[in-house]
Amino acid sequence: MFAGSILSADLLDLGNDIKSALDAKIDIIHFDVMDYHFVQNLTFGPGLLKSIRKRFPEAVLDVHLMVTPITEKILVDYAQAGASMISFHPEATPHVDRYLALIRELGCKAGLALNPSTDPSLLKYLWDRLDFVLVMTVNPGFGGQSLIPATLQKITDVRRMATASNVKPLIEVDGGVSPATVKACAVAGANIFVVGSAFFGKDNYVEALKDLNQALEQ
Ligand code: DX5
Ligand code: ZN
Repeated sequence: MFAGSILSADLLDLGNDIKSALDAKIDIIHFDVMDYHFVQNLTFGPGLLKSIRKRFPEAVLDVHLMVTPITEKILVDYAQAGASMISFHPEATPHVDRYLALIRELGCKAGLALNPSTDPSLLKYLWDRLDFVLVMTVNPGFGGQSLIPATLQKITDVRRMATASNVKPLIEVDGGVSPATVKACAVAGANIFVVGSAFFGKDNYVEALKDLNQALEQ
């Protein structure tokens, strides 16, 4: 499955751009929330998410929170605004277990996002709470960066840990995914591929998805 990151979309014409992406059959719309604290960038709030949900009632909206601290209010706000999936980073709260549980109580799929240097070992205590794991394949904050090769091992490690615990979470990879890197991510065990510059950064979304799918099949 491919998740188009609107970080690389035409922000002044976002509604039409999302419509084109959905018409091209992108599976998921990835919504990067940045707060100038967790990362050195500032992006979107729940008001925008609510407008997207209103215009696209059937879309799968994937909210990736790069904010600190995570609070109950933030999770409630994005869930009420229409999120389908919500992930946050463990460094952003001492209450990872509680907040993953809350995301599900709010009716969304719950995910934990891991920076390139974050040890995934805490996942073994959290499988019951997790629908997906987001493995960052770049340092978060900006689109258009190159995938960090060591993060492929992280994907493999997370998939192995899950299999050893008899669970099958979705593994989402985020950062530097392109026709050149997507196959290696899939082989390592990922099944949701976030694409910003390799999708919204292209002129033709149908062609962009075709190139990504072809790379996967090779
Ligand atoms: C980076 C974001 C990503 C970003 C990916 O912090 O979490 O979702 O949009 O962009 P590309 O695909 O261009 O690396
Ligand atoms: Zn993201």
